[in-house]
Amino acid sequence: MSILMKAASAAKPFPHRHLLGIDGLSRSDVYAVLDLAGIYIAKNRQPDKKHAILKGRTLINLFFENSTRTRTSFELAGKRLGADVINMSVSNSSTKKGETLIDTAMTLNAMHPDFISVRHPESGAVHLLAQKVNCSVINGGDGCHEHPTQALLDALTILQHKKKIEGLTVAICGDILHSRVARSNMKLLNLLGARVRVIGPTTLMPPHAESFGAKVFHDMRKGLKDCDIIMMLRLQMERMERNFVPSMREYFHFWGLDEEKLSYAKPDALIMHPGPINRGVEIDSRLADDLGRSLILQQVEMGVAVRQAVLELLAGGRT
Ligand code: CP
Repeated sequence: MSILMKAASAAKPFPHRHLLGIDGLSRSDVYAVLDLAGIYIAKNRQPDKKHAILKGRTLINLFFENSTRTRTSFELAGKRLGADVINMSVSNSSTKKGETLIDTAMTLNAMHPDFISVRHPESGAVHLLAQKVNCSVINGGDGCHEHPTQALLDALTILQHKKKIEGLTVAICGDILHSRVARSNMKLLNLLGARVRVIGPTTLMPPHAESFGAKVFHDMRKGLKDCDIIMMLRLQMERMERNFVPSMREYFHFWGLDEEKLSYAKPDALIMHPGPINRGVEIDSRLADDLGRSLILQQVEMGVAVRQAVLELLAGGRT
């Protein structure tokens, strides 16, 4: 990189072309996103939510897996910033006629988009795609690997309620093995100075989970003791080729969050879940719906603000 290019990237609040994962982000990159997202929270609560910051820009949402929250919030984020947004329906696309991911990416690239947000079942597919296009690529979740905007919106949700992340004890519970949300959160929460725990059965714990900077527990009561934040995860049945749990009933008994297990956490502990939730499997319905403790719908709200901030920063800041 030339001295001039280095100077230009140093001056940018977010010196990255893509957002593929939490790896490679500095604390200042993360706070650039969270601070800007904080501004969008207030703007999104106004009757007029439209801005012209990305007028003339194009965002393509390319989702090879189902999504409610991520795809919709990228669409809203793009539209509220004035961009043209195209949602590719993969089930109706030429991938069904045998077109590869790379050929699809290069085809879309030829239409000169400015951003592509991608969700794909294969870990690493989004990195491959990013090498083939000229625009910014945002990882909307790749296999069991990363879901960076989810971790960023989770951090923003925590900050809104606890006013800090440093020093908090955060327990991530359940199917850690298959969870890209857990991986991105372990990396981000560590970067921001939280004490991270992962709790789950041995069958659903990745080998070397400690290497992500998390303390591993195989007992909910021990793992939840004195926690500030409890993040419950969905059992990702679609990624399991064999039985990882004996039955849903038994899973809930040992690993589902209910009042009794929650009583081991701090009295003001808050409950999070990236969604979609499976009531009565990983979380008791009454806790999921307890607005005094559950931040699940606030996480959804933060998702729009974080994705607006990411789009704006990748576009190079305010124009
Ligand atoms: N949290 C999350 O990624 O939800 P969706 O699968 O609905 O996008």
